[in-house]
Amino acid sequence: MNNMVNQQWTLAARPQGMVKVEDFNLVETEIPEVGEGQVLVRLTHIAYEPAMRGWIREGESYVKPVQIGEVMRAAGAGEVIESRHDSLKSGDTVSGMFGWQQYAVVDVEGALLPVQKLPTGVTPEMALSVLGITGLTAYYGMLRVGKPQEGETVVVSGAAGATGSIAGQIAKIKGCRVIGIAGGAEKCRWLVEEARFDGAIDYKSEKVGKRMKELCPDGINVFYDNVGGEILEAALNNHVVGARIVLCGGISGYNTEAEVPPGPKNYMNLITTPATMQGFLLGQLGADMGKAAGELGQWVAQGKINFAVDVQEGFENVPKTFLRLFHGQNLGKQLCKVG
Ligand SMILES: NC(=O)c1ccc[n+]([C@@H]2O[C@H](COP(=O)([O-])OP(=O)(O)OC[C@H]3O[C@@H](n4cnc5c(N)ncnc54)[C@H](OP(=O)(O)O)[C@@H]3O)[C@@H](O)[C@H]2O)c1
Repeated sequence: MNNMVNQQWTLAARPQGMVKVEDFNLVETEIPEVGEGQVLVRLTHIAYEPAMRGWIREGESYVKPVQIGEVMRAAGAGEVIESRHDSLKSGDTVSGMFGWQQYAVVDVEGALLPVQKLPTGVTPEMALSVLGITGLTAYYGMLRVGKPQEGETVVVSGAAGATGSIAGQIAKIKGCRVIGIAGGAEKCRWLVEEARFDGAIDYKSEKVGKRMKELCPDGINVFYDNVGGEILEAALNNHVVGARIVLCGGISGYNTEAEVPPGPKNYMNLITTPATMQGFLLGQLGADMGKAAGELGQWVAQGKINFAVDVQEGFENVPKTFLRLFHGQNLGKQLCKVG
């Protein structure tokens, strides 16, 4: 329709090891007709999640894999150009699962993520970060799985990222002592000075296990893990009886060629120092998403949560921006502005 040309990034090949720009193709297509219950959106922002690396693997995970030749799946924000759904009109700013393309024609009640009009005062940057997938994940994982209690010691890995930075600040709001683990001096400075963590460990230049013992002399009550592997192992050498180990993600293994990602070798420590280790998916938040977003929004407005976004620019840079997550180049939520 419209005879308008749409640019799209499609999956060219299943990545072997570390994902690369050549795993994607830039193609041009025509924009299809807008069907009943659908909207046409002109994208302004694309959001990135490490889980997208799992979506381009062969085989089923918690969502269907993106097929070779299909538009890369991703959340984003944009402006409604045409609507055939009662809840939206042209000119509305919306978020949804729009993919790596300039224009998207999507079902408003999409199964993975419905198209939502952004409330007044909520920018696309906020909707895609602290009030979006990663903020809500931090909320669910920290509060419902980690259950931090006042005075407890909480350690967060991947702490300067979109999810970790919010998870740690939620634990601060609950009255905990919070230590973050991140790669590099600048991220560690940001954690302490701007996100008000009580301490930070630079896993790229410090011995994580030794620093954990120094910074958490009474042990770890809640470990919120985004990384897996050796960092998770270090936490399982330092937790206390009754600790909650929250498995949010394991990014250190996402680009591995090994069939099974590494570690933790020492999981038997959960028996000798009895504790729970529990994974979760954001979808478990269910009908509480609205309440969670409302509470997160209040904490931002009250200055209790400081959120960071890393905004790259240009549709030509869409795949390159994805790689930043796996090279630790992002501070806070990784976005790309495309329109
Ligand atoms: N369970 C759920 O429902 C759910 C939902 C959303 C996200 N997640 C998970 O949450 C985690 C964080 O996601 P996010 O979107 O907030 O990403 P993010 O933390 O903003 O970005 C990824 C960060 O991971 C770190 N990293 C990359 N490779 C690493 C490695 N080999 N070892 C250690 N750290 C590494 C990098 O920071 P450094 O510079 O510090 O290395 C990078 O900035 C991911 O594991 C993701 O899969 C889970």
